[in-house]
Amino acid sequence: MLKQYMQEKCDVIDQFLDQLIPGSQGYPPVIFEAMRYSLLAGGKRLRPVLLMAAADAVGGKGERYTHVACGLEMIHTYSLIHDDLPIMDNDDYRRGKLTNHKVYGNAVALLAGDGLLTLAFEVMLKQPNITAEVLLKVVHEIAVSAGVLGMVGGQTVDLLSEGKLIDIETLRYMHKAKTGALFKASLRAGAMLAGAGESQLQALTTYAEQFGLAFQITDDILDVTGTQEKIGKPIGSDEKNHKATYVSLYSLQEAQQMSNNAGQKALEALQDFGPEAEVLRAMVRYILTRDN
Ligand code: IPE
Ligand code: IPE
Ligand code: MG
Ligand code: MG
Ligand code: MG
Repeated sequence: MLKQYMQEKCDVIDQFLDQLIPGSQGYPPVIFEAMRYSLLAGGKRLRPVLLMAAADAVGGKGERYTHVACGLEMIHTYSLIHDDLPIMDNDDYRRGKLTNHKVYGNAVALLAGDGLLTLAFEVMLKQPNITAEVLLKVVHEIAVSAGVLGMVGGQTVDLLSEGKLIDIETLRYMHKAKTGALFKASLRAGAMLAGAGESQLQALTTYAEQFGLAFQITDDILDVTGTQEKIGKPIGSDEKNHKATYVSLYSLQEAQQMSNNAGQKALEALQDFGPEAEVLRAMVRYILTRDN
């Protein structure tokens, strides 16, 4: 059921993303090609799918919000391009292909990230089917989540923690900010766009926080136990960079237990929802056992 839902939504998302950025007809062609290279390289599309699933869970229609959903995917993709740069994690593969800078060089990769980040806001602000008041709130929240109080701040802590033995509070903050913030914004955006009530929004916020934590712990685990073939990016990147992760601070078994606990809490947050939240439940089960 989840597989079919994800396939349907991914088709809608991929089609929309494809027509957002011209290929080599743009000028200068290289920047458009570089942006398309990473954006259309695949990827699980979890953030836009979660936005749609949250809207569906509160009785709305997720597919109406492609602009905001795809804006989130563009912000996410920019963060990956920059994360992979030699001055950051220095990785050569992403989404099963050479990283952006390996193909286009560091400077164009940097600009492709910038281009995706700014285009994301341009596109989100064109979202139809919603009042200006709600859209303003949603886009504001996404901006905060992607910025220094969210993803950018978390990425900074990640860099500053390399080679250090950090405490659990710092590790929690890092994961919550670098990864959790955008997931939280995705779910809350879907709920707000679809007109969720306060208690529904609260429940989905808790779900998102726990989902994001479970997701990043699994990402840390897969960096050790995964295969490049499946995850599309190099294994052992964290160890190479002396990163502080759930796996460097705890055993694999403890990390898996913590991820399971977070997943359990995410499921509990949905207890007042009925079958309309089944996709969100299935998403938790999927991220806990994923191999990609
Ligand atoms: C990878 O995210 C980066 C993290 C935040 C851990 P995803 O695992 O969602 O990457 P894609 O979008 O599927 O490539
Ligand atoms: C990065 O975390 C999260 C981002 C905001 C990009 P990681 O550095 O662990 O992500 P991967 O493992 O390279 O995808
Ligand atoms: Mg990183
Ligand atoms: Mg990385
Ligand atoms: Mg990682």
